[in-house]
Amino acid sequence: MTIDTATLTPRETYAYLSGAVAPRPICFASTIDANGKVNLSPFSFFNVVSGAPPLLAFSPLLSGRDGSAKDTLNNVRAVPEVTINIVNHAIVEQMSLTSTAYPTDVNEFEKAALTQVQSDVVTPPRVGESPVSFECVVDQVLPLGKGPMGGNLIIARVVRIHVRDEYLAADGTLDIRTLDLVGRMGGADYIRAVPESLFEIPKPIRTLGIGVDGLPVHIRNSTILTGNNLGRLGNLEQLPTPEEISNLASNAGVKEALRGSLEQVHRLAQAYLKRGETKLALTILMA
Ligand SMILES: Cc1cc2nc3c(=O)[nH]c(=O)nc-3n(C[C@H](O)[C@H](O)[C@H](O)COP(=O)(O)O)c2cc1C
Repeated sequence: MTIDTATLTPRETYAYLSGAVAPRPICFASTIDANGKVNLSPFSFFNVVSGAPPLLAFSPLLSGRDGSAKDTLNNVRAVPEVTINIVNHAIVEQMSLTSTAYPTDVNEFEKAALTQVQSDVVTPPRVGESPVSFECVVDQVLPLGKGPMGGNLIIARVVRIHVRDEYLAADGTLDIRTLDLVGRMGGADYIRAVPESLFEIPKPIRTLGIGVDGLPVHIRNSTILTGNNLGRLGNLEQLPTPEEISNLASNAGVKEALRGSLEQVHRLAQAYLKRGETKLALTILMA
């Protein structure tokens, strides 16, 4: 299916965008109005957008019903400061509760029983329960659309980072295994980054991988190896040497395995790939 966005209503378009651009991190934004009234609301149109200067950006949309501005947007226009608090599983239900459209004078910290902790340099308080909080000064507010669901990109410069001690690794960095972060999917669905759902991919940054196009054609055209298998093989810096291939082929156990069909050999290589033995897998495939 291919869709021309001009044929969709804003709500339909939003459903495709927010369903596919996921999981999204959640910015739990605390702001204050000109009279110092505190507001706390979640926004998943959110990300880090610059390392130096350190910038985060999130986007309160204009109301889908009447195009009115949300309190958070009005607040940062009046007082250009925000604390952006990170949401983990321990506070996900309280976070959700704060997204209720309470009247402007209601403090969502109180509604959700979250702890208001005074910030060091900005006026909005931070969320005591959040594993990580960022005190930010708002650099820019960019209106992106005038009607219902129009975005308003708030670009916020981080001036202080607070990390709760229990989420620090021994070397002072963030321990992503204990953070237990949540992300927003489409609709009412969330995802939880538990250790069992984390996986590592060798970084192709320092090395120059040969690329899938650098692999012999019988490997590229394999009916067994998946795109992920080929991607991992293509991340190797070089093909095995003829010597490495012949040494392996003369190994008694491997010799036996290589007598099987091409399919069996590819399955054997796939098993080694699964165990992280990429070089050996490629050598088998080439033997
Ligand atoms: C997890 C989550 C993510 C949300 N993300 C956004 C978002 O990116 N943009 C937006 O306009 N509203 C978003 N909402 C809805 C707002 O939180 C909601 O409209 C809230 O009432 C706005 O509060 P405010 O008027 O106090 O600023 C989200 C709600 C939840 C629960």
